[in-house]
Amino acid sequence: MKGSLLYEGKAKKVYSLIGEEYELILEYKDEATAFNGKKHQTFRGKGRLNNLISAHVFSYLKLAGIPTHFIQTLSDTEQLVKQSQIIPLEVVVRNVAAGSMTRRLGLEEGTELPEPIVEFYYKSDDLDDPFINDEHARMLMKVDQSDLDHIKAAAHKINNHLQVMFSEIELRLIDFKLEFGRLHDGSIVLSDEISPDTCRLWDQDTNRKMDKDVFRNDIEDLVEIYEIILKRLEAIVHV
Ligand code: TMP
Ligand code: ASP
Repeated sequence: MKGSLLYEGKAKKVYSLIGEEYELILEYKDEATAFNGKKHQTFRGKGRLNNLISAHVFSYLKLAGIPTHFIQTLSDTEQLVKQSQIIPLEVVVRNVAAGSMTRRLGLEEGTELPEPIVEFYYKSDDLDDPFINDEHARMLMKVDQSDLDHIKAAAHKINNHLQVMFSEIELRLIDFKLEFGRLHDGSIVLSDEISPDTCRLWDQDTNRKMDKDVFRNDIEDLVEIYEIILKRLEAIVHV
């Protein structure tokens, strides 16, 4: 049974679960935000799409042997997860230059990177999620170098699996953001969500943008695009 509201973020609410100390319910909202909340819009049906897309992606990764917080979906907008203490690190993996990387390094959007790059950002709305290195992460969070090395290795492994998964549905995985959390036993697992809110996905043949950039840059209808992603995932992953 759903307990009390523990936390409300921009896109999700987190509830306790009565009688289950180490489990939580995530409820996905119909909100889209961009540029750290400066742009904001409600899209009816977005919560369902993010919930179900993320459930498919996490199920795929679980089957591939990646430890995650995901247990099961509970409804169109809710999922059951293991309770974890989120490490305030946004772990970005990039295969192709886009977004902030093109601005920071003067690269042209769409430039293939010679090898995937993992970057760390400090998850802080007040500070606009600044780019940080390992030393900053060790200073700011309860992590040591072996935790960071483990997170980087996991991020590369997840990238390999997700590239295969998205290519099966004719999408190129340009870049994406992961978050990790610590379970009560101290182990680190993949947490939060993986969806077109947290990935850049381009059509394999046309490079049409099929992710939150359609909202960030007013390109196409977000709900129509996310529906296409969910339909394609439903054809290849069973939750
Ligand atoms: P960036 O190019 O803006 O740094 O974004 C890199 C990737 O991370 C992109 O797929 C979008 C995702 N992302 C988030 O999920 N949340 C965020 O707050 C930001 C800035 C990026
Ligand atoms: N996730 C951030 C926000 O909600 C930034 C972004 O994705 O563009 O504002």
